Amino acid sequence: EKGGFDHFMLKEIFEQPQTIFDSLRGRLDAVQQTITLSGVEKIADKLLAADRIIIVACGTSWHAGLLAEYVIEELCRINVEVEYASEFRYRNPIITDKDVIIAVSQSGETADTLVAIENAKKQGATIFGIVNVVGSSIARLSDAGAYTHAGPEIGVASTKAFTAQLAVLYLVALKVARIKGTIEDTLYDRLSADLAKVPEYVQQILDKQDMIIRAVAAKYSDARDFLYLGRGYNFPIALEGALKLKEISYIHAEGYPAAEMKHGPIALVDENLPVVFVATKDSYHEKIVSNIQEIKARKGKVIAVVSEGDSVVTDLADDVMTVPQIHEIIAPLLSVIPLQLLSYYIGVNRGLDVDKPRNLAKSVTVE
Ligand code: F6R
Repeated sequence: EKGGFDHFMLKEIFEQPQTIFDSLRGRLDAVQQTITLSGVEKIADKLLAADRIIIVACGTSWHAGLLAEYVIEELCRINVEVEYASEFRYRNPIITDKDVIIAVSQSGETADTLVAIENAKKQGATIFGIVNVVGSSIARLSDAGAYTHAGPEIGVASTKAFTAQLAVLYLVALKVARIKGTIEDTLYDRLSADLAKVPEYVQQILDKQDMIIRAVAAKYSDARDFLYLGRGYNFPIALEGALKLKEISYIHAEGYPAAEMKHGPIALVDENLPVVFVATKDSYHEKIVSNIQEIKARKGKVIAVVSEGDSVVTDLADDVMTVPQIHEIIAPLLSVIPLQLLSYYIGVNRGLDVDKPRNLAKSVTVE
């Protein structure tokens, strides 16, 4: 049932070209450049009238929500707040019938997310669910939604469900931007064309980088701490990379916005600290290059996710994991893949049960 893979986690990482394709299938027509999402169409009037969108989630799904904040604000010019469901539900937030709440959940059963949207619904908000498990509680409670179509995820650490969430969130953002008229045709065409290329590009990463990442993992499997840094669209991916490493390897890891490093975490840097930079070619590239130089000047070890052909970061870094060049808004769907593999191989090297990390459950149905 593991399809020849040693673990479900690895199988699910390798399924991503297919699962991302499945998330886009029947929705994104790359030839006609149209996006069909009946859930968005159903609440289009609410979305058009909304002053803000609140995204509610936990864990990895919260990271998908955080990226969606960057994307929706950029493309749709709607305020977005991203909330940890547990905090949101207990702090008596101000919600009105003009609010649209997007709940992101693989299982559709996470207690905090479920109760958060139950409360918001009582106060008149419209709930849009982005859920993997069909017919789950969050899916049933939502007024509208879009399933992620990643298929069953067995590995406790989320991989393919996360990229499926991102794929759907990109579609939602593009669709809403189109309806609102906040996106230029050229950008819309470029992003939908690049989104359609993601399955093929993910396959290329898996084919070309797997052996390389195994070797990188072997070098750093004994590290005690890791820092993950990224800026802009890649900041949520730094957080996700750190979470994945913690869960699978029990190595302490922290994700930070790269520029925040100077405000504290840089005190940790010495020759024993691996720092993972999510440094694909984007509008922040020069800035992240100088952040890398600051780590190198303090003898930190730099592992970087880079775009193909980036000789600047490749020369500076101790190790690189390469992904194809794609529009910066879509790049997180590629840059997360090497980080999933890195965590997996480090966990395996440490002899751990990567499919069932200690203390974790696949769905957190108690608060
Ligand atoms: C991380 C992970 C958890 C879940 C979180 C939310 O790998 O699996 O952080 O993302 O418990 O779960 P769902 O998405 O089912 O609501």
